[in-house]
Amino acid sequence: MNIKEKIKFFNYLAEDFDSRDYPPIMLWKSIQRQRIEEGWKQRVKEISSGEADAPGLYIHIPYCQTKCFFCQFKVLAGTDPEMHSRYLECLKNEMKRMSPLVKKLSFKTFYLAGGTPTIFSAEQLEDLFNTAEKRFNLSQTVQRLIEATPATLSLKKLRVLKKYGFNRITIGVEVIDKKMLHAINRQHQTEKMVKDSFEQARQAGIEFINTDLIAGLPGQSIDSFLYGVRFILKMRPDAIHIFTYREEELVIFCRIGKRITDKDRLRKDKMLALAEKMIRKAGYGFGSNEPYLLTPDAANFQLQYRYQYNVTLLGLGALALSFIPNHHVYHNAQIEDYLKFWPEDKATPFFTGYPISRAETRLNYVLNNIRNGLDKEQFFRLYGVQFDKTYQKEIEDLKRINRIKNDSEKVKLITKNDFEFRSYSKFFFGSRVIKELQAKIKIKPSEI
Ligand SMILES: C[S@@+](CC[C@H](N)C(=O)[O-])C[C@H]1O[C@@H](n2cnc3c(N)ncnc32)[C@H](O)[C@@H]1O
Ligand code: SF4
Repeated sequence: MNIKEKIKFFNYLAEDFDSRDYPPIMLWKSIQRQRIEEGWKQRVKEISSGEADAPGLYIHIPYCQTKCFFCQFKVLAGTDPEMHSRYLECLKNEMKRMSPLVKKLSFKTFYLAGGTPTIFSAEQLEDLFNTAEKRFNLSQTVQRLIEATPATLSLKKLRVLKKYGFNRITIGVEVIDKKMLHAINRQHQTEKMVKDSFEQARQAGIEFINTDLIAGLPGQSIDSFLYGVRFILKMRPDAIHIFTYREEELVIFCRIGKRITDKDRLRKDKMLALAEKMIRKAGYGFGSNEPYLLTPDAANFQLQYRYQYNVTLLGLGALALSFIPNHHVYHNAQIEDYLKFWPEDKATPFFTGYPISRAETRLNYVLNNIRNGLDKEQFFRLYGVQFDKTYQKEIEDLKRINRIKNDSEKVKLITKNDFEFRSYSKFFFGSRVIKELQAKIKIKPSEI
């Protein structure tokens, strides 16, 4: 492909998936359990010999009270404790099965997300944390973090979190305005619940509170969004993460034909700009596309380590993502298969993922860091090769179209927005992946 053809093809691809996923999820295939276990054995050796950093432990809980109409994730809605207990038993079986493989490892971070992990009762949470501590070495964790919603929190649960060393909680608020809560199918959340959850988290002694808001929903007015920002600023969270709404396959709004209009898009840009001003004025910094922080310690370390250092990740639970650098990136089974296989302790055979070589692991690092500026010295420390020599051709191509800023210390892509980043970062994609994408899409770049 010449440069013009590449741009056409990459623009076409950028419509569909995020460059943070490398290799792109649309290329992932099923993988046998044996391959996964081999990968872990190899990685444990690398970590034990000090060649690689300590890993993170991730647990996925795909349950919520209701499914919000904007949500892009696969979740099961419902509050039946029986349903949650069944999943918990599966998780405990998976922990038992996986722990011998990683018993030599000491985990640096422990993260529960979903869905809404705090939908579990205080007793279920305690059972889960107890088992995790028994099965894995969590004694050296620097951060334990969990995602929650105001409506699923209570002082009792927060005290359990504190007891098990959780030092960061996300209180996902999304929107505050009543009309909007109704429109997104989240009627059960009230302003009082939001206030109480912040107060109780502090009372329980959780060190860092992050909160999530969403901007750019269909029909969301600027006033409605800013009402939420002002409300949240009064709570003084340590981190604020504003997500920009994306129309994805699993979003209910899309399925019922409620699409964003050009007016919504314009409003979203205004919302983000106004919110940034207000949040920065209130003393928060460090934010670009990432959360605004009062202090760097309020960041999500598991994500930070993963993106900045390619740290190994063991994911447990249906749909959980695992990352074995130099070997595989993979997702656990779909919820239905997970529930079918694990209760009988028959390890589920259903994984989907993609093998990644050492060079592709390095490339994964490049894609995660080149938007905000990749530090060349750090790159050399991690991979033992010079950036400029390794990616000579890619740099030349991007230079010809003025899309790269490359000095002796840092290298950065020049892009105006998310779409451009998703497109131009693909200049770095490996040739094997490009070939597979071309074959999958079955369109020649010149025909797009
Ligand atoms: C896994 S969700 C969990 C958060 C928690 N359950 C809650 O409701 O706050 C994490 C974040 O993904 C974001 N998110 C979900 N669907 C999205 C979409 N279609 N576009 C952009 N962000 C989305 C939400 O803003 C949410 O805070
Ligand atoms: S936004 Fe949170 S609560 Fe709503 S469906 Fe998604 S994960 Fe569940």
